[in-house]
Amino acid sequence: MRASRRVLFAFAVACSMTCGGGEASAQDLRPARFCGACHGPIRREWETSAMAKSWKNPVFQAFLTDAKAALGDSVLASCVACHAPAAAVTADYKFESPVSQEGVTCNFCHNVTAVDPSPLPASYTFDASDPLLMRGPYKDSDPGSAHGFVYSEIHTKGEFCAACHEHAAGGTGVPIETTYSRWKKSEAASQGKQCQDCHMTPYAGQAAPKISKKNREKVHAHSFRAAHTPGVLDSVATLKASVEKGRLRLTVRNRRVGHSLPGGGGGMRVIRLTVSFFGAAGESLGTTEVQTYGIRYADAKGVTPVPKWLAHTIAHQAEVAADSAAVEWCEIPVKAKRAQASLVYYFIDPAYLPSLTKRKVDLSAHQPVVMARDATKLP
Ligand code: HEC
Ligand code: HEC
Ligand code: HEC
Ligand code: HEC
Ligand code: HEC
Repeated sequence: MRASRRVLFAFAVACSMTCGGGEASAQDLRPARFCGACHGPIRREWETSAMAKSWKNPVFQAFLTDAKAALGDSVLASCVACHAPAAAVTADYKFESPVSQEGVTCNFCHNVTAVDPSPLPASYTFDASDPLLMRGPYKDSDPGSAHGFVYSEIHTKGEFCAACHEHAAGGTGVPIETTYSRWKKSEAASQGKQCQDCHMTPYAGQAAPKISKKNREKVHAHSFRAAHTPGVLDSVATLKASVEKGRLRLTVRNRRVGHSLPGGGGGMRVIRLTVSFFGAAGESLGTTEVQTYGIRYADAKGVTPVPKWLAHTIAHQAEVAADSAAVEWCEIPVKAKRAQASLVYYFIDPAYLPSLTKRKVDLSAHQPVVMARDATKLP
């Protein structure tokens, strides 16, 4: 217990967010509804994203309760720095302002002036001096009297996202979020493809329809299209089962993800590869766990899996790197005549599901998704 407390403390104090121009008050930040009066489509897209729900999401809330029970209420500040950054930069830890509860929201992202793409958590600089000075991708923006604007190169680069999507635990250096560094090594990054190109797929249109007549070559979809978006997981991986030298060979290929699979880390998202065997009459001969892609932590006592805030060491780690394939092997049971392999995506490591279900946490947005299947006859 003692050791894990120390680790977590490091998790909390390593928080590196900085605020320029003094501290904003929560009343100064505008809710998404305000921005949506002119940026209607962007607001509606953003509302569907996991980032808009990163605070209210019931699964997050359940884990937050656990984190506080294990490590004390002070852990809240470290979680809030990434999951409710508007609350963090206004020190609204009582969540009195509705904008604090909006998760990763408009008036937070568009007032960030710099990001340190290191594994420090929440490594952004937020400028509170003028909450209505928007940083964005246009050099010739035309917001009239709605708000000020500044061209911001960092918003057009993957480095921006590293503020929260690259993180190692303070003290131990155990990797928590590695999406940014995995992307950096990918073919996509070397071709200049940013996180925004895939997760904020640009379209031609107007950034503020009806208000500004400027037709833009690129407006960025703020739906942050990813694993939660219906259909996406259908095409990101292929699975091939074949027999080689009397053993079953399973090949999992990462097809179009600009980083390793699963994309997120944090010991939350995992992908399981299983094989079911059947006999000559089609009878089931059982199911074998072949591999779990993702990361599992152990705490200071060796208990595993534990959530990221108790991470002391890595108990298990496997991933399908960008632009490559992972090959796994599996023994074939004696009477087996057919093998059916499946690759299933879990938003939450299934190890946590029994406790969440018992507590009646709403898991409707966390249902597992079958990514790929393949079957083969056996000799
Ligand atoms: C009264 C209407 C109105 C409101 C409210 C409004 N905007 Fe805008 N905004 C505009 C217009 C018009 C533009 C210019 C669009 C263009 O040039 O294509 C713009 C441009 C922008 C840009 C691009 C800046 C750049 O230099 O690239 C960003 C970012 C932005 N707004 C964010 C926001 C956010 C965040 C909010 C809420 C806090 C908000 N806006 C509220 C009308 C509005
Ligand atoms: C202030 C911290 C922060 C920043 C900056 C940030 N994110 Fe996130 N992001 C999060 C958190 C927290 C979640 C997890 C939300 C959840 O699952 O509850 C998340 C989730 C996501 C998801 C999963 C969405 C889904 O529907 O499954 C994607 C994709 C994503 N972020 C992309 C990005 C991209 C691209 C950028 C940069 C343009 C970015 N993020 C910047 C904190 C951040
Ligand atoms: C996770 C951070 C994040 C959040 C939350 C966010 N934006 Fe953005 N927004 C960006 C980035 C990054 C870009 C520029 C993308 C690029 O150029 O590659 C952008 C671009 C824009 C632009 C310029 C037009 C365009 O789409 O390129 C407007 C306007 C805008 N955002 C408004 C909003 C509004 C309104 C909200 C809330 C409903 C919002 N943004 C929420 C990160 C964010
Ligand atoms: C070439 C396209 C591509 C690029 C570039 C890319 N991603 Fe992804 N990303 C995907 C796809 C496809 C998925 C869905 C598969 C998965 O969940 O791993 C995904 C998944 C994710 C997830 C997990 C989604 C979830 O719902 O939990 C996060 C977080 C994420 N990406 C963030 C980023 C960040 C941050 C960057 C840049 C540092 C980035 N991505 C660059 C294509 C891309
Ligand atoms: C450095 C930023 C950062 C910090 C600090 C952080 N998180 Fe996260 N968290 C994320 C990101 C990014 C994701 C999305 C997971 C992924 O990569 O796909 C996430 C995902 C989660 C999820 C899964 C949510 C879902 O619905 O799928 C839970 C639960 C969670 N975090 C809890 C916490 C708690 C509790 C704390 C504080 C002890 C915390 N996080 C601190 C960035 C952070």
